[in-house]
Amino acid sequence: MGWYEDQVLPRIIEKTCGMEAMNKLRVAACEPLTGSVIEIGFGSGFNAPLYPDGVTSVTAIEPSDVAWQRAATRVSAAAAPITRAGLDGQRLDFPDNTFDSALSTFTLCTIPDLPAALAELRRVVNPGGTFAFFEHGSAPDAKVQRWQRRLEPIQKRVGGGCHLTRNVREVVTAAGWEIVGADSFYAKGPKTLGAFTMGYARNP
Ligand SMILES: C[S@@+](CC[C@H](N)C(=O)[O-])C[C@H]1O[C@@H](n2cnc3c(N)ncnc32)[C@H](O)[C@@H]1O
Repeated sequence: MGWYEDQVLPRIIEKTCGMEAMNKLRVAACEPLTGSVIEIGFGSGFNAPLYPDGVTSVTAIEPSDVAWQRAATRVSAAAAPITRAGLDGQRLDFPDNTFDSALSTFTLCTIPDLPAALAELRRVVNPGGTFAFFEHGSAPDAKVQRWQRRLEPIQKRVGGGCHLTRNVREVVTAAGWEIVGADSFYAKGPKTLGAFTMGYARNP
């Protein structure tokens, strides 16, 4: 990793992902979580104050040391204990069926081998367990999709590999998760970045 990805990008992500206005949506995204949770792409820990009461522990997977350091206050204030126990969602160092739930917010866009990461999540989450997601991705409108395709190469360069065109429902379903409920909507701001999908899936 270069200096930009290592030192600058985590701080930019913290600014963009940490907007107060997102908290209501984050609360809704976290609502289906129960028991032991694995969160991939933990970032600066913006979900940490928002997990519901039924969450008993959180295992954070996060490659950026800077992001993890900047999460410290939120981690120590969280009601459930949070431990960082991995750097890469594509290879999880846990036995099968370790967790009750999984969480990803704004991370499925960035993981290079997304099918591998979603398969790993299924492996480590109990059968019947839940995967809650809140992500940006491919827009519902063809015109916006065209712009997303045009802008994606730039976004990947400045955003640490962040894709604009991933279809969240499709990739989650293709990995064998059964979507229980999901909503897609535009957030305020540019539609290319603000085509959000929030929902949860069950591990069959
Ligand atoms: C846009 S940020 C979102 C952070 C956080 N989930 C949030 O909602 O604020 C994407 C995060 O995914 C992390 N990430 C990138 N590649 C990853 C990988 N292979 N496995 C797990 N996390 C990864 C990045 O370091 C970054 O913290």
